[in-house]
Amino acid sequence: MTKITFIKDGNELAVDAKDGATVLQTALDNNINMDHACGGNGVCTTCMIKVHDGAENLGEMTESEEMMGMDPGDMTTRLGCQCEIAGDAKVEPAF
Ligand code: FES
Repeated sequence: MTKITFIKDGNELAVDAKDGATVLQTALDNNINMDHACGGNGVCTTCMIKVHDGAENLGEMTESEEMMGMDPGDMTTRLGCQCEIAGDAKVEPAF
């Protein structure tokens, strides 16, 4: 089973994740508080995450992310609602 580890307030919590689910959906499914002002539509940046491990497992950067200022040359800063999970990763919500 794929594991996503969330870092919140200095603590780490590893949860099971469905392949193809987003990081945001996985957080919400596991009662992990993550801001998502636009409802996961890729137009606000409140779901921004720092990717500590497994950036290669979170899919390509989307057009929405680029439009919101994410740098395709830096896959360690992403929008959680746009990252589709394909393997283990460790992420830290920015807000
Ligand atoms: S929830 Fe708004 S960009 Fe992800």
